[in-house]
Amino acid sequence: MKKKSIFLVFAILLVIGTFVTGCGKKEDKKKYDYLVLVNKQNKLPDNWEEVVELVTVKNAWDEDIQVEKEAYEKFKELKSALEKDGVTIELDSVYRSVKRQQELWDEFTIKYGEDYVKKYVAVPGYSEHHTGLAIDICLRKDGELIYENDDMIAEKEIFSKIHAKLSDYGFILRYLEGRDDITGYSYEPWHLRYVGSTKIAKEIMSKDITLEEYLKKNK
Ligand code: DAL
Ligand code: ZN
Repeated sequence: MKKKSIFLVFAILLVIGTFVTGCGKKEDKKKYDYLVLVNKQNKLPDNWEEVVELVTVKNAWDEDIQVEKEAYEKFKELKSALEKDGVTIELDSVYRSVKRQQELWDEFTIKYGEDYVKKYVAVPGYSEHHTGLAIDICLRKDGELIYENDDMIAEKEIFSKIHAKLSDYGFILRYLEGRDDITGYSYEPWHLRYVGSTKIAKEIMSKDITLEEYLKKNK
């Protein structure tokens, strides 16, 4: 009888524990929307930076950078999978505060001119990089880092191997070639976007559509 009661209490605690932990996990996943749309028309949501969970990691130059926690975990898996194919990717720029985006905008305007900046750099407050879910990668090839935009665009074969694997890890290619009219930006083979679901990423990548088009149909 005593043994039975102990067992019963234990079983009840186990059920409660599983329920509480399970709910906690669901809440975690829903703390913020992995499909958040930030583009020329849609600003970063007001409370985003208060809720997003960022981790500090190193980029290709050994500088401290920040990235959304789950996106980073998936990035590491993507990187390992690509290494088996002989492709090495590194992190370049990921999370950027509004202040950092402004510095970048000013720096690039001086370096490349205003026309270039409008094609490749978002107005501060309207960059997907503020979410921590957008990852700019660079390449390591024969020991050298390839990070300039034009040099990366020239690496078509390497990028096609990278793009083929993105959706397996919940990433999409955000700025597709020839879709400037929808995304607002020129082709950026290096700009990956974590969408929080391999199923959704696969749908977007297999249909060769933009995040804007997917959300129009599905939200
Ligand atoms: N390069 C992208 C568009 C940004 O600046 O957010
Ligand atoms: Zn980017």
